[in-house]
Amino acid sequence: MPTWMPVQVVSVHHWHDGLFSLQLSHPDFHFKAGQFARVALPDSQGEPLPRAYSMVNAPGSQVLEFVIAKVADGALSPRLSALRPGQEILLNSHPSGFFSLDHVPEGDTLWMVATGTGIGPYLSILQQDDVWQRFKRVHLVHGVRYRKDLCYRELMRALGEAKGAQFSYLPVVSREPESPNELGLHGRIPALIESGALEAAAQSEFNLHSQVMLCGNPAMIKDARSTLESKGLRKHLRRSPGQITMEQYWAD
Ligand SMILES: Cc1cc2nc3c(=O)[nH]c(=O)nc-3n(C[C@H](O)[C@H](O)[C@H](O)COP(=O)(O)OP(=O)(O)OC[C@H]3O[C@@H](n4cnc5c(N)ncnc54)[C@H](O)[C@@H]3O)c2cc1C
Ligand SMILES: NC(=O)c1ccc[n+]([C@@H]2O[C@H](COP(=O)([O-])OP(=O)(O)OC[C@H]3O[C@@H](n4cnc5c(N)ncnc54)[C@H](OP(=O)(O)O)[C@@H]3O)[C@@H](O)[C@H]2O)c1
Repeated sequence: MPTWMPVQVVSVHHWHDGLFSLQLSHPDFHFKAGQFARVALPDSQGEPLPRAYSMVNAPGSQVLEFVIAKVADGALSPRLSALRPGQEILLNSHPSGFFSLDHVPEGDTLWMVATGTGIGPYLSILQQDDVWQRFKRVHLVHGVRYRKDLCYRELMRALGEAKGAQFSYLPVVSREPESPNELGLHGRIPALIESGALEAAAQSEFNLHSQVMLCGNPAMIKDARSTLESKGLRKHLRRSPGQITMEQYWAD
């Protein structure tokens, strides 16, 4: 049975009208980087209306942080976006999920591939030491509709400075003609994998020494997986190790 605990909203940062970061107090919540929490507000019957959100902060931080898209006509996310500091929200006391580095096999290069708010779990993983000790190179690919959706750029800049050539940040914008930077990455991620444009921008390959994490839009995950499979990579299973680990944010 889920145990709901009331926690306070610490802050709400609106990146733009459709995207925000929510910070919550958490008296006693321990999780692994990459996992998610269930948060809820009461529905019209007073029952918790829950949804899953990946933690953005590293384990051990003072507050829990989530990056959330305000889904037009969504049942919960518009209500979350209207919260104010000091208001109360319900947090399930148990973190969940297997999208953490202990479920990713060894490799030389880690590709973290996200669309939209699927960047969330990677932000948590990137703020821990483990990933930098395990992988020689780490590439974060963030596919969004518009440049304004490229959140957490300050953290990306700081990681770039701290990690140098070990880290690359590869933003991809699909609905604006101009690329977000000199890398020239425009369009959808699977097409950029297929054409080799992503590998060229990262100066790195998708091969059997890579590990690839895919997170966010289920259609992107499906298409990216099939493109990677055509390059010989396979879904990772405990009984049959592979290179692809996935987390879908909604059903296909
Ligand atoms: C493991 C897991 C982790 C998740 N982590 C996050 C997270 O960190 N941030 C986040 O914003 N969402 C996350 N989600 C999605 C989240 O749980 C909700 O589905 C989302 O907030 C929509 O809820 P809603 O009640 O507003 O919309 P609903 O009324 O439930 O409508 C759902 C529809 O909204 C769309 N949708 C759902 N999530 C997203 C999204 N993230 N971006 C764009 N469109 C979406 C899809 O079309 C989906 O069918 C996660 C889901 C899972 C399963
Ligand atoms: N982004 C905004 O400005 C905005 C503003 C207000 C509200 N919202 C809400 O947020 C939700 C959308 O969020 P979002 O833009 O973060 O997520 P999204 O719709 O999942 O789009 C994120 C990225 O995924 C790409 N994508 C979609 N299908 C793909 C596929 N099959 N293969 C590869 N890439 C694929 C999109 O490309 P394409 O562009 O080619 O589809 C886009 O670049 C909507 O429910 C909307 O209500 C968004």
